[in-house]
This record gives sequence, C-alpha cells and structure tokens, in this order.
Amino acid sequence: MIDFKEEIAKTICNITNNEKEEIKGYIEVPKDTKNGDFAFPCFSLAKTLKKAPPIIANELKDKLEYDSNVIEKVEVIGGYLNFFVNKNILIKEVLEKVSKDEKITVGEGKTVLIDYSAPNIAKPFHIGHLRTTVIGGALYNVYQKLGYKVVGINYLGDYGTQFGKLIEGYKRWGSEYDLSENPIDKLAEIYKKINDLAEEDEETLEACRENFKLLENGDEYCVKLWNEFKDLSLKEFQKIYDLLGSKFDSWDGEAAMATRTDEVIDILTKTGKLVESEGARVIDLSDKGISTPCIVCKSNGSTIYATRDLAAILYRSRTYDYDKSLYVTSYEQNLHFKQIFEVAKLLGIDEKYTKGLEHVSYGMVRLPSGKMSTRKGNFVKIKDLLNDTIEEAKKIIEAKNPDLEDKEEVAKRVGVGAVIFNNLVTSRVKDEIFDINSMLNFQGETGPYIQYTYVRTNSILQKAGNVTNINDLNVEVLSDEYSQNVIKLLGNFEDILVQVTNKEEPSILAKYLIDLAKAFSSFYNENKIIGEEKTIQDARVFLTYCVGKTLKEGAKLLGMQMPDKM
Ligand code: ARG
Repeated sequence: MIDFKEEIAKTICNITNNEKEEIKGYIEVPKDTKNGDFAFPCFSLAKTLKKAPPIIANELKDKLEYDSNVIEKVEVIGGYLNFFVNKNILIKEVLEKVSKDEKITVGEGKTVLIDYSAPNIAKPFHIGHLRTTVIGGALYNVYQKLGYKVVGINYLGDYGTQFGKLIEGYKRWGSEYDLSENPIDKLAEIYKKINDLAEEDEETLEACRENFKLLENGDEYCVKLWNEFKDLSLKEFQKIYDLLGSKFDSWDGEAAMATRTDEVIDILTKTGKLVESEGARVIDLSDKGISTPCIVCKSNGSTIYATRDLAAILYRSRTYDYDKSLYVTSYEQNLHFKQIFEVAKLLGIDEKYTKGLEHVSYGMVRLPSGKMSTRKGNFVKIKDLLNDTIEEAKKIIEAKNPDLEDKEEVAKRVGVGAVIFNNLVTSRVKDEIFDINSMLNFQGETGPYIQYTYVRTNSILQKAGNVTNINDLNVEVLSDEYSQNVIKLLGNFEDILVQVTNKEEPSILAKYLIDLAKAFSSFYNENKIIGEEKTIQDARVFLTYCVGKTLKEGAKLLGMQMPDKM
C-alpha cells in the first residue's frame, strides 16, 4: 500500500530538509479535482525561506524527483504545488484502507478530558443537557478513534445552596410526595414551592441556609437526604444515557470538588491578587480584557460554581496528564469559562495544563415555539422528547414497511438517531431547531437519511451475495465521475475526523456523512450495479460495501446505531 501524503512529503523534504511529519501535515486534498489529488501549500514555507509562495512552488517543482508511475504530474497554481497521482493506485489505496479498518494513530500518547453532560441533581434533564451529552459523546468517540486516551467526565451539578432549599422543602412536605415514581418532577415541584416561599419569607430562607451549612459539615440527616436525591436523579438520567448510549469514565461532580476549594483560596491568597470587593473576595481580570471580576468567595464566606471549577482544574491537572481539557456547555457560560481559565493561570500548575483548557460552547435549542429555559419553567423533558420521536419514527416505519421485523428496535434506532443527528449537523455555535417532523424526513439532511442509505447498501450486498477480495478487483472500471466522487470522499474520512478534533466540531463529520450518502445515491442512480458484467459488478459492489462501512462507522462515532433494514 502506498501512503501518498508520505511519498509527497518525502520528495519535498529531500529538497527542503524539513521534518517529514511537518510537511505531511500541510498536505491537503483539493476540493476541486482539477487541482490534483493532493496539494502542498507553499505558504507554510514562506516565512522560513523568506520568499513568495509562488516562487517557492516553482523552484520546488523544478527540483522535485519522483517515481512517475506513482506521481504522474506536478503543477503549480498560485502558491500551491498540485500533485496528480496514479488513479488506480490511489483507488486501491483508498478501498483497501476502508475495508481493512486500519488503526489510526494520530492521537497516540495524548490524553483528552471531556467534561460533558453534567446535569443538575434533582432537576430535570433538559434539552440543553441533551446537546452537551450528544456533542461531548461524539467528540469522545472521534478522539478515541484517532488513538487518543479519552476521559469522559460527568461533572454533576450536585452541590450548592439549592440543596439547602430542597432539604428544607423535603422536611416540610416530603411525606406528601411518593418519590418512587417520577421523582425528579416531584423534587422539582418541592423545590419550586420552597424557592417561592424563601423569596418572600426571610425565616424560610434562613432555614434553607442552615440546612446547606449542615450538609457542608456532614450532618448525617442532610447528607442522607442529599444522597437519596442524587441516587434518584442518577437513576432517571441513566435511562436517557441508555437510550443515547452515553458513557462516562468519571462522575466526580461539584460536591467532590467542594472539599478542595480551601487549597484554591489558599493559593490565590498567596498570589496577592485575591482582593476584597463589596465584601466578596475576587480576582480582578480587567487587565486581561475581562471586565467582570471572578468571584472566588462570596461575602458570607461560601464558595461558588467558579471556585469549584478551579478546584477541578487543579485536581484534573494532578490526576490526568492531559493535553486538552474540553468543557462542553452552552454559550451562556462563555464568561464563566473565560474567567476561570484566566484565574487558573494563577494556580501554579504547569502551563501545559492551562493551555489545554478549552470551552466548547454551543447554541441554544429552539423548539418551533421558542427558546428553552429551565428557569422560565417552559422546559421540555428530554425523556418525553426522545419517546415522542421514537413513536413518530414507528408510525413512519409502520406506513413504509409494515412487514418489517423488529419494528420496535428499528424505531428506537431511527428516532434516537434522528435526534442525535439533528443535534450534530448544525454547527455547534448555531442554535438548533428541534422539529421532530423535519428531523425524521428520510429525504432531508437527517439521521434517517443516513440510515436509509446504509440500509440500501446492505440490500445491494445481499443481492450480490459476496464481496470480491480487493486484490482481484479491477479498479479501472471505477473511473466514471460518480464512482470517483464516492472514492474521493471515502479517502477523506480520516482527514475529516482530524478536522473534527481541530475545531471540536462534530458537525464536520455529520455533514460529511450527508455528502457521502448523496454521492452514493448519485452513483447508484447513474450506475447499474447488480447484473452488470462481472468485473464491473464486482468493483461497484466493493465500492458499495466501502460506503456502507464508512457510513456505519461515521454514524457510530456520532453516537447513532444503524438498523440493518428499515
Ligand atoms: N451543571 C452545569 C449546568 O448544568 C454544567 C457543568 C459544566 N461543567 C463544568 N465543569 N462547569 O449548567
């Protein structure tokens, strides 16, 4: 097998004496086939060589030595060196790579932490948490596929003054509620009731504060209640995680970090930068371009969300030797992360660990009826949404294919797949429109469209009976435009995954799968597959097999499961 990027990098390095891996990293696959199969942007050398990129390109072109059986032609366009390679070797290489499932090693030796999902105990898992769960989960899978060591952290919101309130509410009215069914709804109700009361009545508020203090100090009764709330919540959350296939390596939440905030305050105090402001202790960040100071201690001495996140950074830097530490939350927390990432630089940890911090923020989820917010109380519960989508999927399947086996399971995969894909296909910074009907459209840019295309590849393979060994294929018959488009996309798969991790953007993969499914549909519409002359049928069946495999693998990385039939 020939690694073309490797070959091209070698020929360039023979002249420039650069590191081969560096040059290889710059080599691109041009969007337009007119610009060759691979391109080297000479901009990357302009600085060191102190020459204009087009001049570098021309000079390199004159000096390059290569095997003309492998690289057929080199052209200069602007600052680019464009390489045209032997198509048949290229096709074989792509098909072999896809069919052999080679291990990818770009991330080997590197560790990535992904802090995602992180719902709040005793509160419903709302649609915003769905987005972090799905985006974080997809990033998790892609990093892992690339060979990184990945640690998924579910930083549960299990701490804060609201638990003092909830305990007080439970003390007063707990016996009126049966928590064995829909516990979260009931806890949310209790919480709302006590919260409303505490807003008007100072004495109630004081009682809530007192409970929180008791909880902090390890009071047996309060801790027992808190544990119960947590268990009930986790059981509910797990139902959603089971549907979505979400997995976490750590469940260390805010409470686990609350015991570590003293050290943070200590370190910050010693820097001399922790100053009094209106009774609170804060770090002024105005010289860092952040006009709101980061509160570390409130005026009553208690810590806040930011303090615990700082303790978490300290803890994680000591526990995991990470290269990147990602936080997936909505853009509403932009300021929070800007602040704590800046303050983290004062914690005395290695620069590597502060440099690796990154907020992966995403837009709001809108139902056709408007914005979601727990605070406003018009939240939609994610379990209901998932179940509604599965029901809807079932109706569609029932209508399209009433004799299908295992309809329940297929409906689940299609419904959940639709929700996951809809979450991911929109660039994360943009708001997501959550419209069940459009996300289930089999012809749209949807999860079911990807699944449907996969199922089509499956039925072709079934008709064909078997897939020929790659060594016996005549790939020359795949030279038509439609086959070429498909092959080109297949060859891009690994690059796409790397792009996902460069931008922390799973939508790149989601859109790629749409492109691949569309390219396959054109290929299928233009080319007869079954019933063609044997060499042609074999090659086209093999290509179909590679498309199905890539669609399935890509969808799996996004968190979707493929039905075999639908
Ligand atoms: N529990 C928080 C929320 O629901 C999200 C936590 C995100 N992670 C973090 N390390 N702050 O808004």
